[in-house]
Amino acid sequence: MSRASWPRAGLVLAVSGILSAGCWEQVSPEWFAQMKWQPSVQPLDGVEPKLPAEGTIPLGGIEPRIDHPAPAFSPQAMLLQNPVPATTESIERGAYVYGIYCTVCHGADGMSNPQEFPVARRLTESGMPPPPLVAVPAYTDGFLFTKIRYGKPGMPGYPQIPPRDRWHVVNYLRTLIKGAGGG
Ligand code: HEC
Repeated sequence: MSRASWPRAGLVLAVSGILSAGCWEQVSPEWFAQMKWQPSVQPLDGVEPKLPAEGTIPLGGIEPRIDHPAPAFSPQAMLLQNPVPATTESIERGAYVYGIYCTVCHGADGMSNPQEFPVARRLTESGMPPPPLVAVPAYTDGFLFTKIRYGKPGMPGYPQIPPRDRWHVVNYLRTLIKGAGGG
């Protein structure tokens, strides 16, 4: 490069530096139309979502809270009556919900195969293997229903399963796991 071309090289460098910094578009909005400078509508800008009117009750009602260190073992839970008859539809629905939420730990047959499912395997490795559900026949419907809702140490609670679906799961558990006497 000759001595005379140095200033020109400097100019090119300076201009390309300015361009690559993106400054050209900031000088004046009149020069070029920019997509980012356009009217936009933000309907919820600064607006809080409306709260439900006072006294509103969700469709399906509110489940009473059970304040007990082990909710499933509370007398309130034990005495809950299953309002859902164990029809074929109920049991089918229960099987479907069980397949979504419970199979990963207790296995499709309720007898849990920790090796088959990563979640169950992890729990087993950390010393809290999901037990086979052999004790189910000894539990009341209300216990099982509440157990699903609140869980216990080691088992997550599933309040997100709507109450009716939880009763369906209880109905399904009754067909899945029979008592020792074959009942
Ligand atoms: C993340 C793993 C996990 C999932 C998912 C899970 N459980 Fe459990 N479950 C456990 C563990 C661990 C225990 C043992 C500790 C305890 O009783 O809380 C258990 C215990 C139980 C028991 C008591 C067993 C006994 O012998 O006392 C029942 C009944 C039960 N689960 C039902 C269910 C149902 C129904 C679902 C689906 C809604 C479910 N579980 C989902 C891990 C799980």
